[in-house]
Amino acid sequence: TGLTAIVPAAGIGSRMGADCPKQYLQLAGQTILEHSLALLLSHPAITQVIVALAPHDGWFDALPVAADPRILRVEGGSERAYSVLNALHVASGDWVLVHDAARPCLCHGDLDKLIAAALTCDGAILGSRVRDTMKRTDEQGNIVATVEREQLWHALTPQMFPTAPLRRALEEGLALGATITDEASAMERAGYPVRMVEGRADNIKVTRPEDLSLAGLFLDQQNG
Ligand code: CTP
Ligand code: MG
Repeated sequence: TGLTAIVPAAGIGSRMGADCPKQYLQLAGQTILEHSLALLLSHPAITQVIVALAPHDGWFDALPVAADPRILRVEGGSERAYSVLNALHVASGDWVLVHDAARPCLCHGDLDKLIAAALTCDGAILGSRVRDTMKRTDEQGNIVATVEREQLWHALTPQMFPTAPLRRALEEGLALGATITDEASAMERAGYPVRMVEGRADNIKVTRPEDLSLAGLFLDQQNG
């Protein structure tokens, strides 16, 4: 059976501070969300894409991609984890892959690596290695330790897991009031093994205004 991709796109982009949610900002001729969706929809293993949209989203329907029969919409929630959970409730298939709408620079090579690793390791996420020296501080801002960098990663998306265990892990984590900023954290909490797959550092999440030109540069580099 095919793979389902879930795209949480119900955020408001408060740190971006634009006139519309950041996933609808233009980047190299189309919206950020269209870039993210196009990469997923062009992968042969992905047969369904569930997009979580804000309740009063007035932008998605205007996009040409909205007419794609492989796309299913659900209403998003108050936090990213709830948006993902709403999508999981209608997901069919044994495996899902969750990808932030705000990561338009994902490439097929990384997607292939992730899918292969997830299927053999029961769950995996893309990540990139940290580059700076890492410090831990106390509450006053005094450094208490230099943290070993070799084992530190930035967690990226996509993140791929078996559908039912991920749904249970998110439900349990949310019920307990845990902070869940990615799928892996819920799976870790529930005791599942999660494999880290080294992906490209240019798979950034567009978060602040300066990230938009950076993402444009990365797309140029990938296509040039
Ligand atoms: N997201 C979502 N539902 C929410 C919050 C976020 O589907 N309630 C989505 C966003 O649309 C985004 C992804 O989760 O694609 C990552 O979240 P983030 O980068 O934090 O986006 P925003 O929450 O929109 O931005 P901000 O935190 O700056 O407001
Ligand atoms: Mg947010």
